[in-house]
Amino acid sequence: MRMPVGGQAPRCVPPSGSRPATQCYSASVPGTPADAVVVRPATTVTGRVTVPGDKSISHRYALLAGLAHGVSTIHGYSTGADCAATLACLQGLGVRVRHDPGKQLEIEGKGFEGLSRPAGILDAANSGTTMRLVAGIAAGRPFRSVLNGDASLARRPMRRVMEPLARMGAAIAARDGRPPLTIDGAQLHGITHRPEVPSAQVKSAVLLAGLQARGRTTVIEPSLTRDHTERALEAFGVTVERDGASVTVEGGQQMGCRALTVPGDISSATFWIALAVASPGSDVQIEGVGLNPTRTKVLDIVRRAGARIEVEVHGEANGEPLGRLHVTGGTPRGFSIEPEEVPAVIDEIPALAALGALLPEGERMRVDGAAELRFKESDRIACLAEGLRALGTEVVEYPDGFELVARPLTGATVDACGDHRLAMAFAVAATAAGTPSTISGASSVAVSYPGFFEELARLASSGDGR
Ligand code: S3P
Repeated sequence: MRMPVGGQAPRCVPPSGSRPATQCYSASVPGTPADAVVVRPATTVTGRVTVPGDKSISHRYALLAGLAHGVSTIHGYSTGADCAATLACLQGLGVRVRHDPGKQLEIEGKGFEGLSRPAGILDAANSGTTMRLVAGIAAGRPFRSVLNGDASLARRPMRRVMEPLARMGAAIAARDGRPPLTIDGAQLHGITHRPEVPSAQVKSAVLLAGLQARGRTTVIEPSLTRDHTERALEAFGVTVERDGASVTVEGGQQMGCRALTVPGDISSATFWIALAVASPGSDVQIEGVGLNPTRTKVLDIVRRAGARIEVEVHGEANGEPLGRLHVTGGTPRGFSIEPEEVPAVIDEIPALAALGALLPEGERMRVDGAAELRFKESDRIACLAEGLRALGTEVVEYPDGFELVARPLTGATVDACGDHRLAMAFAVAATAAGTPSTISGASSVAVSYPGFFEELARLASSGDGR
């Protein structure tokens, strides 16, 4: 039994029967540069897999645990680097975090008022969620915080959080609306915010600021985005008023510590779904995956693409449904993603594009209304188009989307543009190439799915015993 992080703080006990964390380690591939991985052709994928803990939920549980009172425990916390960046930022704000590899995470919160002025820069690394949510917290603290990240994060737009947080009373400076952010926190007041672009990160940043504000804070989104913040706040004892795509919190509410379990990440699971759907004879079971209805639109889309998927909901952890997905290979067909569906599958589009590349020759896959993809870890429209073309797919790029036509794939060297989801998407597509491919920038998978390539090697087979 491990000692609690803090001596006096109340302690939350983990639930029984909760899912163990997936521990994965990146491989080095002999004969390739450290950041490149060779993907060999495969015809089927079979087996059981658990995916790392949901990235969005992990960020939120860690942050709220750091703002609650007492020692919270988090089981199944994402093993990805993005969520490690959130823990580092919490530590930078004076929160005690204990995270031993393979064990559950413990975080000792002392309320918002227990946070202290960071001695150095808060480093969000590659994680937009970390930067935007931490900005919402820092906005209400009576000290200066400087938030920065890596080169990819440095090009991502931050005005979308700066503007509402400034309206609430914080002073925020940036470089042309991009990181680093210098935040001078203040006593905030509640606002009603209507973001132009649906964004769970913006909603969450404003709600985290709203908890520290005088009065009520409401966010009214153009369409409902993932609601993990709302569910997590409720799990921590906050009253959240919800009406469709409108959400309100009253400032000054306190949170108590909790024992939490993070379900597996459906965005990571989608790579296995895409691979299984496109490969006849495949049979993959994905256990303990999050099935929050604001995240399962991807299942509707892959069904339209011909997927056979059984979904078993096994229950809920802290208000988040989770269960098992059973995917069997079939006859995939062309599909499109409509503009109104895009916010609900924004993170799954790279995996869905890989499925598009694996369709029978001549079948098409199309996405419109997805300009936001250009502001992710990379310009995902341009980089997807370039990488899939290198493998042989025909791709037409639009300002807000793309259309691809499936063609026979051949092995190639493909650049993931340092983007974790593109590295995995290209790897999935590359399994259908006649010859091996090299994915450069492959180490980026550590952002959300360390061990992805080892799992690929374990699950995929070429049907000839290799
Ligand atoms: C996330 C929200 C989405 C998503 C990102 C994670 C979150 O971003 O793309 O990977 O955890 O809130 P936006 O809020 O920019 O749409």
